[in-house]
Amino acid sequence: MTSTLQNDLTPYGGVVADAAWAEEVRSLARKRDAVLLAHNYQVPEIQDIADFTGDSLALSRIAASSDASTIVFCGVHFMAETAKILAPEKTVLIPDARAGCSLADSITGDQLRAWKAEHPGAVVVSYVNTTAEVKAETDICCTSSNAVDVVASIPADQEVLFLPDQFLGAHVKRVTGRENMHIWAGECHVHAGINGAELAERASENPDADLFIHPECGCATSALYLAGEGAVAPERVKILSTGDMVHAARDTKAKSVLVATEIGMIHQLRKAAPEIDFRAVNDRASCRYMKMITPAALLRSLREGADEVHVDAETAARARASVQRMIEIGQPGGGE
Ligand code: 13P
Ligand code: SF4
Repeated sequence: MTSTLQNDLTPYGGVVADAAWAEEVRSLARKRDAVLLAHNYQVPEIQDIADFTGDSLALSRIAASSDASTIVFCGVHFMAETAKILAPEKTVLIPDARAGCSLADSITGDQLRAWKAEHPGAVVVSYVNTTAEVKAETDICCTSSNAVDVVASIPADQEVLFLPDQFLGAHVKRVTGRENMHIWAGECHVHAGINGAELAERASENPDADLFIHPECGCATSALYLAGEGAVAPERVKILSTGDMVHAARDTKAKSVLVATEIGMIHQLRKAAPEIDFRAVNDRASCRYMKMITPAALLRSLREGADEVHVDAETAARARASVQRMIEIGQPGGGE
């Protein structure tokens, strides 16, 4: 029997992403003066119809600078919320407001306030995969493409509270060598499921392949261990944000690449470098929230002006300072 929760999360369906669909989407977007943004984990049809496809940081920057009066964010809820925080005067739509994020759900505003109380004076660095309420309690937000730069920008003698992703936190701690950094024990269920044993097996079957690994993955530490042990050449192991994976695909000389992240990523990688054989380390690593943005959901969104994203003015004002710092620090992220 199907549970109520599963029924509630059944994505909108019944629409084929054919030429007529694409024409209607484009025409409705023009009428609404809307820019369509898509994250790299969206289904291929959504990635291909979007004006810009990219990683969280690049899409936040585009949302902040776009001239369009409406942003249609094809991604998950915290991403659309971030766009609204940065552009409060714009209408921000997400094609299905139920598209959440298990990582963002792993810490609440109350939990963060209690953690801060235990470490007075610490600088709070939050991954962008957090709610607006958590961002409002944060000093600097970061994404996977600038987390190292953000932590490195904080004076060495100041304590850091890093949240919510423990694997990204471990990566940042390793790269910066920072001891006074406390890490929240949150995780993304999709990335945590890409484990070290699976990676080691794939790497031994494909000894000449590059490894592109998202820092949220449970296997990121194992990859560096394999490199340290000489099982994989260290220069083949690349810990990258989704946008940086696209840049790395264009630059690598490898003929095959093992990709450890959500499977939607493979579409952009194949477009960027069609001659390379890209393989998912775990081909079941699919984010059901990202996949709720179906062709039917996008059409409904543009026809009905739904689902509109709201962030209350006071929370947005407090959150904006931390998000603004995020988009000012580090490299631009990746998107086009
Ligand atoms: P990026 O910032 O690398 O796009 O990742 C976002 C995300 O949700 C990863 O699961
Ligand atoms: Fe959240 Fe994980 Fe989905 Fe990314 S892949 S949106 S972190 S649940």
